[in-house]
Amino acid sequence: MADQAFPTGTLMAGKRGLIMGVANKNSIAWAIAQQLAAQGAELAFTYQGEKLLRRVKPLAESVGSDTLLDCDVTNDDQMDATFAALESKWGKLDFLVHAIAFAGKDQLAGSFIDQTTREGFKSALDISAYSFVDAGRRAAAIMNDDGAMITLTYLGSERVIPNYNVMGVAKAALEACTRYMAADLGPRGIRVNAISAGPIKTLAAAGIGSGRHMFRFNKAASAMQDNTDSKGVAGAALYLLSDLGLSCTGETHHVDGGFHAIGMPQEGPLRESLAE
Ligand SMILES: NC(=O)c1ccc[n+]([C@@H]2O[C@H](COP(=O)([O-])OP(=O)(O)OC[C@H]3O[C@@H](n4cnc5c(N)ncnc54)[C@H](O)[C@@H]3O)[C@@H](O)[C@H]2O)c1
Repeated sequence: MADQAFPTGTLMAGKRGLIMGVANKNSIAWAIAQQLAAQGAELAFTYQGEKLLRRVKPLAESVGSDTLLDCDVTNDDQMDATFAALESKWGKLDFLVHAIAFAGKDQLAGSFIDQTTREGFKSALDISAYSFVDAGRRAAAIMNDDGAMITLTYLGSERVIPNYNVMGVAKAALEACTRYMAADLGPRGIRVNAISAGPIKTLAAAGIGSGRHMFRFNKAASAMQDNTDSKGVAGAALYLLSDLGLSCTGETHHVDGGFHAIGMPQEGPLRESLAE
């Protein structure tokens, strides 16, 4: 089941890590997992509840992993059990992939100022930003001193994206957490980075209002005039989690076809559509 198109090699040989955030074969975390496995990494996976185990188990097995841990990041007992299980299985950890976000559907459509509730705000920030701090602290306690961690973010943290709303605020917090974690763990040689991916069709992306327009607009307005390929995100993850990424920490690295770099699109369909 693992996609053979991921470049193989030994960049992650001898390294063991935890992947948090695979829901199905479209998950960004799954692309990352396949790329890391293709480079020799040994993987463990968390899944969010029994319903997702059915999908995650065969994926994990296809990359040789039998370590599947039920972990909702809002449940402290499950977080404790996850990292205790890793410590008892491996002793030490080399890397952590955090690819988890959530906001209620009612928060992800319409006006930010009108739609954002206190509960919606708290839960989005808790699950999408604090969980990286919480998992990062637990991972660091059992991590080798040359270890690395990554999280997944989106441009909605830096610029207003319609309907992304409170998730944009959560991603801004997540990127700030990444920098603070990098400073705390840097003296130990542990690197902490974020990948800012362009829109990719996943379960999480489907929850955002007007997603269809988002994909079309990104394709038309990005430097590469194309949508983001999760293989590019997986390649960036490999760089940041392997020794290739030495000295790179506290960074938010964009993998979005250059969408973030564009102020006004070049000649092309988008400009033509605005012509009088
Ligand atoms: N798809 C995109 O366009 C895109 C772009 C940039 C960044 N991202 C980010 O990438 C990450 C992965 O998302 P994805 O797009 O692959 O979608 P996905 O739906 O495949 O993955 C989201 C994961 O978050 C998990 N999750 C949500 N709440 C949780 C909780 N309380 N406890 C444990 N796990 C929980 C889900 O189980 C799921 O595995 C997210 O942080 C997302 O914001 C996605």
